[in-house]
Amino acid sequence: MRITFCLTDTNPLPWLQGFQAAFPDAVIEEWARGSTPADYAVVWAPPQQLFDEQTALKGVFNIGAGVDALAKLRLAANVPVVRLDDAGMSVQMAEYVCHAVIRHFREFDGYEADAAAGKWSYRKPRSREDFPVGVMGLGVLGERVSRALTQFEFPVLGWSRSAKAVEGVRCFSGSDGLNDFLAATRILVCLLPLTPETENILNRDTLSRLLPGGYVVNVARGGHLIDEDMIALIDSGRLAGATLDVFRTEPLPAAHPFWKHPKITVTPHTSARTLRDESIAQIAGKIRALEGGADIGNLPGVVDRKKGY
Ligand code: NAP
Ligand code: GLV
Repeated sequence: MRITFCLTDTNPLPWLQGFQAAFPDAVIEEWARGSTPADYAVVWAPPQQLFDEQTALKGVFNIGAGVDALAKLRLAANVPVVRLDDAGMSVQMAEYVCHAVIRHFREFDGYEADAAAGKWSYRKPRSREDFPVGVMGLGVLGERVSRALTQFEFPVLGWSRSAKAVEGVRCFSGSDGLNDFLAATRILVCLLPLTPETENILNRDTLSRLLPGGYVVNVARGGHLIDEDMIALIDSGRLAGATLDVFRTEPLPAAHPFWKHPKITVTPHTSARTLRDESIAQIAGKIRALEGGADIGNLPGVVDRKKGY
């Protein structure tokens, strides 16, 4: 068996070593132009050329949850694409989103500014009933995040493509459910995959439908958000602010207004990092299953190429 690796912006060495330990008899190598055809590819943001040359692949494993970078490439229709299925990401995402929601709700950003100015002053307690949190995307990450938010007793709403039932979460689905979902949401969390249907979904129209004082937490992809629409709504007072982990251009350019905006918190695409050991174990387990004759359609994380996630 031969497994080829193309991990843009990631040190491949520990990955190669981890897979060699998992498959001592296999050829584990970094992809380069003209490489011998491999059985499997493990990738992050690979170039088109890999798929033009590697025409014998039995599976492509993405070392992230989002496959939007792969969706832009031409891959043979019969090659299964498998994304990470949690692999330690959902608990990180729950931490990040709960932190962002609570920081905003409890006004900890204001207390941080007060402390920096040596100022001792209380803010009035707020009612969590006035801060319903709406999670767009109730998949592996969105569902975990929604459940975590219910533990803090926020009213929680969720929106997905197909109808879902999550205990303690008021669920909406499809384009028919979107307006009711937005109209009942104050803090909006985006955990959608980036697809042609969801691109630019956080725009002037949708963000204006949130309850007054709306707040945006985007942890999915920068392409979901129209930056200037959100800034205009924050500056007009329609929205209270945002916590953003993902951007159209990453790293976020130094001149981008998000950096210095007093109501916007920026983090460097770190809300749910790929955990190497968990990911190697998950992918190796799937390769073992496939080599043992498992039907790839039964493995979690197989991407529906038509839907794009
Ligand atoms: P997932 O399990 O595939 O869940 C996607 C969810 O979005 C599903 O509930 C799906 O609905 C819903 N959805 C998709 N298209 C929709 C549409 N047009 N309208 C309404 N709902 C739609 O994905 P995941 O593992 O939770 O990951 C979600 C995204 O998070 C990834 O694609 C990635 O972009 C992002 N992410 C970011 C980071 C970070 O560090 N910032 C880390 C990991 C992932 P159905 O359930 O009905 O299919
Ligand atoms: C990170 O953004 C991922 O998609 O895993």
